[in-house]
Amino acid sequence: MSLATTMIALFLQILITCFIFTTEASSPHGFTIDLIQRRSNSSSSRVSSDTQLGSPYANTVFDDTTYLMRLHIGTPPFEIRAVLDTGSNLVWTQCLPCTNCYDQYAPIFDPSKSSTFKEKRCHGHSCPCDIVYADGSYTKGTLATETVTIHSTSGELFVMPKTIIGCSHNSSGFKSPSSSGIVGLNWGSLSLVTQMGGEYPGFVSYCFSGKGTSKINFGGNANIAGDGVVSTTMFMTTAKPGFYYLNLDAVSVGDTRIETLGTPFHALEGNIVIDSGTTYTFLPESYCNLVREAVEKVVKADRVVDTSMLCYNSDTIEIFPVITMHFSGGADLVLEKYNMYVESEGGGLFCMAVICGNSKQEAIFGNRAQNNFLVSYDSSSLLVSFKPTDCSALWS
Ligand SMILES: *[C@@H]1O[C@H](CO)[C@@H](O)[C@H](O)[C@H]1NC(C)=O
Ligand SMILES: *[C@@H]1O[C@H](CO)[C@@H](O)[C@H](O)[C@H]1NC(C)=O
Repeated sequence: MSLATTMIALFLQILITCFIFTTEASSPHGFTIDLIQRRSNSSSSRVSSDTQLGSPYANTVFDDTTYLMRLHIGTPPFEIRAVLDTGSNLVWTQCLPCTNCYDQYAPIFDPSKSSTFKEKRCHGHSCPCDIVYADGSYTKGTLATETVTIHSTSGELFVMPKTIIGCSHNSSGFKSPSSSGIVGLNWGSLSLVTQMGGEYPGFVSYCFSGKGTSKINFGGNANIAGDGVVSTTMFMTTAKPGFYYLNLDAVSVGDTRIETLGTPFHALEGNIVIDSGTTYTFLPESYCNLVREAVEKVVKADRVVDTSMLCYNSDTIEIFPVITMHFSGGADLVLEKYNMYVESEGGGLFCMAVICGNSKQEAIFGNRAQNNFLVSYDSSSLLVSFKPTDCSALWS
């Protein structure tokens, strides 16, 4: 189990069983918070060459892997850092007592020290919450209501009393010690953005920067407008409710446009998930190979052949063509080379940050490709919007 497969596991969750109750939350009008970027290091990001997604070079080419959000839970407030994940539902953290916790750098939340922690009762005993991921990793615990406090960038506190969270006592398969859990941000009823309620329910935007401070905005602050904004419809599928599906019409490699129409990848109601918790972009193998071949036609450098990723020996990223993602409704994202290609830590090697095929042939638009776009999700208008933005400079 590696970081890469953990990130994929966030997306490929297959079973969530939690008992759901209604909740009351305060109504934030809009606020912004800073994110923490977890950088890979050789011990935490190694991808072994025998994993289904793996590349023997992934341990060196992984650069920026995931984004963590700071939350305070309980009374008195206890800080946790958790992975921002638009590909899952529940907000959960590891809790004492641990029957089987994964290693985390920060202290583990102790519910017995919080005066507002209240375990949910189902027929006299605590409500179980089990999340099992496709690769066999899991987290098991109980549901509770607890006060969640978010410190906004402007210094205000947003307090969400009686928020439903997962308190996990038994997890396995997670190898990201800088995070204490996951902040689920999908459409589901238990996600943070859904439980916020308020004036702008289900309204969130973020701006990821591989180099500077990244931000997430809720409510009124999530609004994006002005020059360069493009929007595309988001879909909820019955097979995977809660995920934000988009329609990818085509990918252009330089001037070569490769349509999804006519391939099994084509769909009218969503063929790719936009996910903040997955690093790379994944495309189904046969379609992806068409994209790859188009890149190979352009690049004149030594191909490194013993990798599952498309890698070249080079001192510069300039060898690669510009890639444009064409989402339905005319939302064309002209991607920076940084979005689509990654450099090895030691230098001298560049790889395409698009992986062809995974075990389920799922398509995922990952967080690397979303860098330096302000990305907003609006569940009332059913639109995901993108605005090219220098995310590191935006609020500094
Ligand atoms: C890298 O990993 C080691 C041990 O796994 C950890 O102690 C260290 O803090 C990590 N460094 C960073 C920058 O995350
Ligand atoms: C943790 O959960 C797993 C999977 O259900 C189970 O096999 C194991 O016994 C549990 N561990 C403990 C210590 O309860």
